[in-house]
Amino acid sequence: MAKVIATISLKGGVGKTTVTGGLAEFMSAEFGQRVLLIDLDSQINLTTMMISEERWFELNTNGRTLASLFSDAVHGTQYFRLDEAIERGVSPVKKVTTVDLLASSLDLIEMQEELSALRVRGDASGGGTGFLRKAIAPVIDFYDYVLIDCPPNIGPVTLNGLAAADAYIIPTIPDHLSTYGIPQIQNRVRRFGDEIGRDIFELGVVITKYKANSAVHRSTTKRLRRDPSIQHVLPSYINESNSIAAAAEFTSYGTLKVKYGNQGQFDQFRSLATDVMTEAQEKL
Ligand SMILES: Nc1ncnc2c1ncn2[C@@H]1O[C@H](COP(=O)(O)OP(=O)(O)OP(=O)(O)O)[C@@H](O)[C@H]1O
Ligand SMILES: [Mg+2]
Repeated sequence: MAKVIATISLKGGVGKTTVTGGLAEFMSAEFGQRVLLIDLDSQINLTTMMISEERWFELNTNGRTLASLFSDAVHGTQYFRLDEAIERGVSPVKKVTTVDLLASSLDLIEMQEELSALRVRGDASGGGTGFLRKAIAPVIDFYDYVLIDCPPNIGPVTLNGLAAADAYIIPTIPDHLSTYGIPQIQNRVRRFGDEIGRDIFELGVVITKYKANSAVHRSTTKRLRRDPSIQHVLPSYINESNSIAAAAEFTSYGTLKVKYGNQGQFDQFRSLATDVMTEAQEKL
């Protein structure tokens, strides 16, 4: 049975999507893991990191994205077909052969509002947060890891991600504004776990876009690692780097070293994947 890990943060632009996509590619190419990626963000960034925009357009036109799942949930229809929606063998890196994707859609923006209304009216069991968990249940045994990329808020779509997850990671840039909301997320997830009667484990905070020449980044990283209210900062971190920024684009690469860069970036991502898998083995 797969270990299901959500990537969340209240702050936008901290590297959630980059970390989620990178983890999947490294888990696959370096560690032979079967991974299902789930893109819950209507910005569709993870989707267009893993498949071409043309392909996404095709999937979207044919209702083969998560917008259909949530639309069914809200309207009581049954158009979503899990086996058709799972896009197999994604990623523009040749060596990555075992990553599948449930794509997102711009239409999720509207679904978010309708899901909120459902939650407020109390019309659905579990407050309308169990749709994703139920939908992916039939395929969970086929994967070693399911990684869920969430939008930068704790709205109803993110709650669907959390309800499907065993654990979560919180990426953050090590500066004041980015780290500000971390305790709030931890509390919110804890309360949500109580609400659904299940622990959602914190695997750790992931430091991203680290600049070694920044005094703020150095001091914030030190502070985070000492802060007792932040339970755990993973030992590995990801530097800010042009090649990692370029990795957001869907362009063909032969290997992960070429895609992410081999001046430390490859090793950093590989060791982050090791950290996450180790934490997951220990805690789940
Ligand atoms: N380590 C890095 N070095 C350089 N650029 C990076 C790095 N990580 C992410 N970026 C870039 O920073 C921007 C934000 O990253 P990303 O989309 O991964 O963040 P996010 O937290 O998912 O954002 P959102 O909250 O909008 O979903 C993107 O342009 C991405 O390419
Ligand atoms: Mg994102």
